[in-house]
Amino acid sequence: MRLLLKREDLIHATLEWDSAALGPVDLYPPGNKWRKLAPNLRAAAESGRRTLVTFGGAYSNHLRATAAAGRLLGFASVGVVRGDELAGRPLNPSLARCAADGMRLVFVDRAAYRRAAEPAHVAALLADAGLDPDSVYLLPEGGSNALAVTGCVDLGRELRGAAETVAVPCGTGGTLAGLAAGLDAGQRALGFPVLRGGFLDAATRDLQRAAFAAPTAAWTLDDRFHFGGFARTSAELESFAADFEQRHGLAVERLYVAKMLYGLTTLAAEGAFAPGTAVAAVITGVPEPTA
Ligand SMILES: Cc1ncc(COP(=O)(O)O)c(C=O)c1O
Repeated sequence: MRLLLKREDLIHATLEWDSAALGPVDLYPPGNKWRKLAPNLRAAAESGRRTLVTFGGAYSNHLRATAAAGRLLGFASVGVVRGDELAGRPLNPSLARCAADGMRLVFVDRAAYRRAAEPAHVAALLADAGLDPDSVYLLPEGGSNALAVTGCVDLGRELRGAAETVAVPCGTGGTLAGLAAGLDAGQRALGFPVLRGGFLDAATRDLQRAAFAAPTAAWTLDDRFHFGGFARTSAELESFAADFEQRHGLAVERLYVAKMLYGLTTLAAEGAFAPGTAVAAVITGVPEPTA
């Protein structure tokens, strides 16, 4: 079996933003975030909504990407952050980066955060934050909506003919939903959930329904490699990631990419891939900043 790495982490170096009004951008963090954000940013620009409002936890890559895109493309950005206990405390490096990119951070308690996607609660939240709903473009947690899924179809298309199996780590399932739809007949996508809970099958189907009217075939999930949940790790996973970095000279993002690579290595050892087949692993992101 051959393992190919699809370096989405390098995608920002060659980005082209096709609207002359906005120009090319250099987005951080790069990777699947850009695929998901680009169609949404275009829709926001076209609708004249100049304030991006989105949701995430304290380590959300999506918040960082939205903040960066906002700064680069001239949108205001507001991040609704899960955990009111964080308010008033020093920001972690990820949130500090959001703030440095001009994102206004609004901390809400966990119960309110869970309800935050419901329209009535969104309206109240925008009112509390003093935001005019007509100027706001809402992005869901993780950035995964129907437009985001369509943005990931190209990722699948780019991998046509390259491998029998394409592996991707999953948070909300948006990247997998689009990627699977872009692959050729005969290829299959394999998602590795990094959150616990077993909700991803239904979530991915729902996203495909929203984007393409019906779920597509040719994708499966392997739910064995979440290591207890989001941002949970183990000494074994950490040493696996460090070893992979050393052998291959690739900085391994720990929240998603490490778990996928660990899962793939386990599957290979289990004989899941026939000799001579190629597996492509989508390197969806880069490690967290440490300062
Ligand atoms: C590095 C990285 N990989 C994978 C994902 C998963 O993407 P999705 O939410 O579309 O499943 C994310 C999303 O947050 C991410 O930041």
